[in-house]
Amino acid sequence: MKKSSYIGPKLSRYQFEGLQNKGWIIEYASEVYRRRPNVVARLELELDSRFQQVVVKCYGWRKARNPFISPFFKSKAEKVWETSHRLLELGIPVPKPVAMYTQRQAGFVNHNIFICEYVGEHQTGARFLNSAPVSFPQKCEFIRKVAEIVAVVHRAGFLHHDLDLDNFLIAENNHNAVFLVDLTLAKYHKRLSIKERMQNIARLNLCNCQLNYDHEDCLWLHFLLHYDSENANHLVAPLKRSLFTSQKPEN
Ligand SMILES: Nc1ncnc2c1ncn2[C@@H]1O[C@H](COP(=O)(O)OP(=O)(O)O)[C@@H](O)[C@H]1O
Ligand SMILES: [Mg+2]
Repeated sequence: MKKSSYIGPKLSRYQFEGLQNKGWIIEYASEVYRRRPNVVARLELELDSRFQQVVVKCYGWRKARNPFISPFFKSKAEKVWETSHRLLELGIPVPKPVAMYTQRQAGFVNHNIFICEYVGEHQTGARFLNSAPVSFPQKCEFIRKVAEIVAVVHRAGFLHHDLDLDNFLIAENNHNAVFLVDLTLAKYHKRLSIKERMQNIARLNLCNCQLNYDHEDCLWLHFLLHYDSENANHLVAPLKRSLFTSQKPEN
């Protein structure tokens, strides 16, 4: 038996059926950001009789066993929908959620689609930091924004769990506008230890020194100063440990 839940503005039948087909999304898209395992694409959709640029994320399966355990969990689209709303309420700049669709067959997730507002022309944080025309003060300014965003996310009890610089988008025409995306793995925790927070941050890959030697212009230190100015000194050692363990090859 099929069971579906859709939250969002009215869509035409043509668009609604199209969105359930990855091939249609790719063909209809103005831009395709990812094809595998999730399709992420920019589309112009008619929502409530108004054309709007949106980003559609249509989830695929990374591991073969995932579809079988899905009846016991919220769908990814449902999770992202909820997390996006909670983070937006906290004033965190995440793309505004527009719609969510989950279809289950005998409990197993069949279609899993999240739609949010398009934030405009942008670069990913990783690209921005490696871009030659970007000056060091501009990079610092960007890292300050990233640190402030992560600080609020952590203070609210959330771990993003995929905090790399590709998941921060910086607007092309306004470097003050930085967005956090890809909330699929984000989870709320009643309490967060320093170790958990530093492990989360360690994925950002801000500076090659990995805090192993002192040098000027270290973006890790710059990050910590804006993440928690009062305790930045005490966070250096735990962050260094997390950087070390996250680099160790898995056995
Ligand atoms: N709301 C958005 N507005 C503009 N571009 C977006 C938006 N959401 C995602 N993107 C683009 O799609 C890319 C992949 O999105 P993401 O959610 O990180 O997918 P993945 O899980 O495949 O990493 C981003 O790096 C960004 O370029
Ligand atoms: Mg991503």
